[in-house]
Amino acid sequence: MSVLITGVAGFIGSNLAKLFIESGETVLGLDSLSRGAIDNLVDVIADSSFHFKVIDCSDQIAFVSAVIDFHAKSPITEVWHMAANSDIPAGVNDASVDLKDTFMTTFNVLEVMKALHIKVLAFASSSAVYGDHGIERISEVSGPLLPLSNYGAMKLASEAAISAAAESFLDRAFVYRFPNVIGVPATHGVLLDFVNKLKVTPDRLDVLGNGSQQKAYLHVSDLIDGMLHIRRNALEKMCVYNLGAEDAGVSVKAIAQSVVANASPSAKIVYGTGDRGWVGDVPKFKYSLDKLKKLGWAPRLNSQQAIDKAIAEIICQERNAK
Ligand SMILES: NC(=O)c1ccc[n+]([C@@H]2O[C@H](COP(=O)([O-])OP(=O)(O)OC[C@H]3O[C@@H](n4cnc5c(N)ncnc54)[C@H](O)[C@@H]3O)[C@@H](O)[C@H]2O)c1
Repeated sequence: MSVLITGVAGFIGSNLAKLFIESGETVLGLDSLSRGAIDNLVDVIADSSFHFKVIDCSDQIAFVSAVIDFHAKSPITEVWHMAANSDIPAGVNDASVDLKDTFMTTFNVLEVMKALHIKVLAFASSSAVYGDHGIERISEVSGPLLPLSNYGAMKLASEAAISAAAESFLDRAFVYRFPNVIGVPATHGVLLDFVNKLKVTPDRLDVLGNGSQQKAYLHVSDLIDGMLHIRRNALEKMCVYNLGAEDAGVSVKAIAQSVVANASPSAKIVYGTGDRGWVGDVPKFKYSLDKLKKLGWAPRLNSQQAIDKAIAEIICQERNAK
């Protein structure tokens, strides 16, 4: 029995692959390498239980042919679909990016699962499906769901397609709505952005927006622990869970100050204007985690602790980068 991970060479996919391999699973990992990298797979690439193919999952023919022989020899029992566009501004500039990498990859995952009778899907969704609810504690049934970005729109469309598949041919579907997830190997996000900017200009950090954006953060180790807890304990056929830390989140201003203090203490922080970093940015959000708490799980690190840990990890990653 095997697990298929799409987007395996990305930040979260590579952490997931490592955990599955350490737990004794056989993993088939697919990635187009559009935003991920083989270097992220350093812990698993030489393991005989890990099989990797460079495939664009939005190309249905290539996707099926990458999976079909493997499935015949080592039947895939579940799919962890992590592949997507992770660059929200890129999808605002060109909507076809999210159509292709965020929605079509999901559509094709479902087509492949239907054709090969694979019955269990875990899907990386996002707080971006909610849109802007200000400081209201957003629960899994909060609405209306009005995403502000094409990324969020295509995640929401993906959830809808998965819901229909769960009614038709899936046995179980796990929809995980992630907050901002941080840690290494970092491929994108505010922490990596700040650390890299300071590498180029050690005396100045330019921040997108006025720094008042305030969001929840979750360390990748907690994210994966939480996803597996839900996988083991939730009972619904189509289950949707917010994952995160139940706190007020951390402001971009506080993050900028922490990164500067750790990476380049003499740098001056220069803020932009407006309460958003870019079009499609949701300036503030706060999760309700009541559903997850009832299932008996809470993260080990709150948003601030996750930020502190990830800053140290990312500074170390970038110091060691070629
Ligand atoms: N990191 C976060 O804060 C966060 C928050 C909410 C949701 N998510 C979701 O979690 C998942 C993983 O995110 P991540 O942070 O690891 O991002 P990432 O960019 O590091 O990983 C995504 C991977 O998908 C691959 N990919 C993209 N398009 C593909 C395609 N057409 N075919 C095959 N592979 C393709 C990329 O090359 C990359 O390796 C994504 O679905 C993302 O939307 C992440």
